Amino acid sequence: MNGKYWYKDMVFYQIWPRSFKDGNGDGMGDLLGVYEKLDYIKSLGCDSIWFSPLYPSPGIDCGYDISDYMDIAAEFGGMDAFRKVLDGAHERGMKVIMDLVVNHTSTEHEWFKKSRERIEPYTDYYIWRPAKANGKLPNNWDSLFEGKAWQWDEVRQEYYMHLFAVEQADLNMDNPIVREEVKNILRFWLDMGVDGFREDVITFISKKEGLPDDRIMPKARGIRYFNHGPHLHEYLDEFRRDVFSKYDCMTLAEAPMVTPEVALKYIDERNEPVLDMMIQFKTQEADCLFTDFVHMPFSLTKLKKAYTKWQNGLEDKGWNMLYIENHDHPRMVSRYGSEKFRDASAKTLAVSYLFLKGTPFIYQGQEIGMSNWYPEDPEMYEDVQTRWQYENVGTKKSAKKRLQRLWYGSRDSARTPVQWSDGENAGFTTGTPWFYVNENYKQVNVASQQEDENSILNFYRKAVALRKSLSAVRFGDYKEYGKSSSVFYTYSREDVHQRILVVCSFSDKAKKWTAPKGFDMDKAKLILSNCGERDSLEFLPYESRVYLWDK
Ligand code: GLC
Ligand code: CA
Repeated sequence: MNGKYWYKDMVFYQIWPRSFKDGNGDGMGDLLGVYEKLDYIKSLGCDSIWFSPLYPSPGIDCGYDISDYMDIAAEFGGMDAFRKVLDGAHERGMKVIMDLVVNHTSTEHEWFKKSRERIEPYTDYYIWRPAKANGKLPNNWDSLFEGKAWQWDEVRQEYYMHLFAVEQADLNMDNPIVREEVKNILRFWLDMGVDGFREDVITFISKKEGLPDDRIMPKARGIRYFNHGPHLHEYLDEFRRDVFSKYDCMTLAEAPMVTPEVALKYIDERNEPVLDMMIQFKTQEADCLFTDFVHMPFSLTKLKKAYTKWQNGLEDKGWNMLYIENHDHPRMVSRYGSEKFRDASAKTLAVSYLFLKGTPFIYQGQEIGMSNWYPEDPEMYEDVQTRWQYENVGTKKSAKKRLQRLWYGSRDSARTPVQWSDGENAGFTTGTPWFYVNENYKQVNVASQQEDENSILNFYRKAVALRKSLSAVRFGDYKEYGKSSSVFYTYSREDVHQRILVVCSFSDKAKKWTAPKGFDMDKAKLILSNCGERDSLEFLPYESRVYLWDK
C-alpha cells in the first residue's frame, strides 16, 4: 500500500510448501527445496512468490492452523532457511509475500492455552460463550469444515467458535489487544524484509454483534453475519494506518462470495483503499455450486460472465487478482480443460486468463499441466475438509458415487507433490513422500517439458514474457465478444499503442470461429498460438490464439 503499484507489473508464483520440493530427503517439501528452485521460478517470468503458511503448526489444516506467528516451522528449515530464501529472492529482483492467517489460530497456540485457563490478558482473545440454558449451542452457525461452529472446552467450561476445523479457534478481533498482536506480527515480517501478505479469509474477522442465529440460510449458516462484518473496514483501515502505510508492501485479501461492488469498498484506488487486491471466487464456480463438492457440468458462459463482470467492475477503480488454480481447488485441466487434450487445454487455460487486466498468479504445477488425482480408497485423502465431507455428506450413496464426489471436490487433488522428473517419487524427494504422487508423473513432469520447446512449461514462459511486453495488457481496456458462445472466449485489450484479440476454444472438437466486427484479420499479426501458425478460422480442439494490431 504505497502508491507505487509494483505488483501490477508482476506475475506471482504460489508455493504450497509441503508439496513443492523436498531439500533434505525427509519426504516433506521445505525451504531448502525452494532455494534450489528459485531460478526455475524466475525462469517462468515470475517476479514474486506467495508462500502458503510456513509457520509452526500442528498441521491439522496443513499449516493454516498456526501455533506461532513469529517463527518458521522446523520441518521447513526454520528461520535461517527462510532468511536465505528471502535474500535469494531479493537478489533475483523477486518479491516475497507471506500468508497472514489471523481469523483463527491453532488451539495449540499459547494464546489459546492461556485463554482457556482465563489467564490475563488472554481471557478474551477468542470467541467464548457459555452453553444456553437449555444446553444448546450459543448459536446455529455452521463451520465451513466440520459440523457446527462451536466446540465445548472442558477446561474453561465454555464453547469457543471455530468457523473452520475444531482445532482452529476464531480470534476475537473486537478485542483491541488482539489487533495489537496482529500488528506486531505484521511488523515482525515486514521489518525482516517481507514484501506483503495474502490475508487468509480476512473478510471473516468481524462477526455481527450478539452473534444472532441465522434463520435464512439452510447451509453455511451464519456466513451473512461473519463475512464482511460490521467492523471489517475499520480493522483493515487500522492495520493500514498503523502498519502497512509505513512500508513499501502490498496486501491481497481472500474474500469468499465477494462481488466487484463490495470489493470496491476496500480496494478503490480513488479513495484511500484499505487493501490492494482481493481474491474473488466467482471464476472458480463455473462447474460447481458455491463449493467444489457440488459438482456441475462446466459452463463456459458462466466463466466468461464472471471474468467480464470483474474486468468491467474494477475498470479504472481497482486492480484484479487473476488466478485459475490454488491450493484450495482441484486442478483446472481436469475441470475447465480436458485430460484427454491436456497439452492444448492447459495452454488455452493459460491464455484465457494471462492477458486479462490484473496481476496473474500461477500455482505450483499448473505450469506443467498437472491434473487431478484419483485414489481408489477414500482413506487416502488427507485434507480435514475432505474427510469430514466423506464421513458426513451423501453417506447413503453408493461407494463409487461417494468416491467420485471426492475426486471432483477435494483440494487434495491440487496438493500432490510437484512432478519434477520421471524419476522415483517424481523427483520430489529422495525419501518417502508425505503424500501420494500423482501416477501420471512419468508423462507429466518438469524435466521432460524443459527439453521440449513446445511443452506447456515453455508455453507458459512465452505467454508470460509476451504479457509483459504488451502495453495493452498492462493498461488497455477490456472488451468481450460473442458472449453467448459456449465454445469460444474472445476478448480484446486496447490502449493507444495497440489492440490485441485473445481467442480461446474450450471445445474438444474443431469449431469455426468468426471474427468480431471491426477486426481486420488480414492485417492481424498472430503473436501466440498453441497449435502452431494456422490461419484457418476453424479452430482445433482447445486451440487458442492471440492477435496483435499495432496502431
Ligand atoms: C483459506 C485457506 C484454506 C484454509 C482456510 C482456513 O480458505 O486458503 O486453505 O483451509 O482458509 O484457514
Ligand atoms: Ca524436507
